[in-house]
Amino acid sequence: MKKTKILGTGSYVPKKVLTNEDLSRIVDTDNEWIYSRTGIKERRMVAEGETGSDLAYHSSLKAMEAAHTAADQLDMIIVATLTPEKRLPATACLLQDKLKAKNACVYDINVACSGFVYGLSIADQYIKTESMNRILVVGTEVMTKILNWKDRSTCVLFGDGSGAAVLGPTDQSERVLLSTHLFSNGSLYHLLEIPAGGTGTEWTPDAFERGDHLVKMKGKEVFREAVESMSSACEIALQKANLTIPDIDVFIPHQANSRIIYAIAKRLHFPEEKIFINVDKYGNTSGASIPIALDEAVRQGKIKSGHKVLIATFGAGFAWGSALIQW
Ligand code: COA
Repeated sequence: MKKTKILGTGSYVPKKVLTNEDLSRIVDTDNEWIYSRTGIKERRMVAEGETGSDLAYHSSLKAMEAAHTAADQLDMIIVATLTPEKRLPATACLLQDKLKAKNACVYDINVACSGFVYGLSIADQYIKTESMNRILVVGTEVMTKILNWKDRSTCVLFGDGSGAAVLGPTDQSERVLLSTHLFSNGSLYHLLEIPAGGTGTEWTPDAFERGDHLVKMKGKEVFREAVESMSSACEIALQKANLTIPDIDVFIPHQANSRIIYAIAKRLHFPEEKIFINVDKYGNTSGASIPIALDEAVRQGKIKSGHKVLIATFGAGFAWGSALIQW
């Protein structure tokens, strides 16, 4: 059986910066509250007319360039997004059109913040078994369009962006995906949801007035679950690979909140200098968070040849997981 190689990564965020100071002019908040509770200083926001497939297009081009892969070489495109550009068709179709990736089969997956890691795992199955040769996995989100700008407890947390990776088969041991571990608990769906706007929920003026078409979250409960779930996903990945924390060179956790990240580090006794954090610049970009962080860590030289990289993810569903990469 082949191994799955990460041939190239890319990321892209919109140019427009929204600082905590800017938010304090929209809702009753301030920089001190946001930064001390979340580690976020600023986030990015799409410009008028800029869409999720636009962000995905730019991050994909960078990943394809790094992977020396042309659009017509792609066999499959998986777009992880909870903010699809249209109800129909999938954002992946719009991305395929922009890339002119005419030989690819394409689809979206919605696993909220964990979508990219789920996408990696799906792609891994096709590549290991040699059913596909080149797969583009993209996380792209326009979170600023689904936030309730009157709810200060959620609107300060999220931002827009996209990250991508091109995967292909190899017999070597460099930049290979060692394992992925996926978990879900649908019984807690109500702790983080957009209650209205699907086919199962009436689209009434009342629902609209309540902001049910926008993100609703029980922050404290989500915080607790995120720490617990990501810690356990890391432990399982390490255990199955017969590794321990000192074997890991770089830890890339989902970038939701630096307090969540440090709580996981404390629980696992993870040295803080091995953790990659960029939540201060982008906030929580949901499905784009892991691929943006991975790409930045690679391009900044934090991930080097021979490194073992541990990824942990968590999001609405709840759905969470981990991945191990031998760089
Ligand atoms: N600015 C100022 N005050 C705010 C505020 C803001 N942006 N948001 C909430 N507050 C207020 C609340 O109204 C509350 O006031 P009250 O005590 O008068 O009622 C107070 O701050 C404390 O709120 P609380 O919800 O207890 O804060 P917290 O310490 O739990 O922090 C979160 C809130 C959202 C930062 C935190 O729960 C969290 O990070 N949760 C995880 C969220 C997440 O990452 N989700 C995505 C996972 S993929």
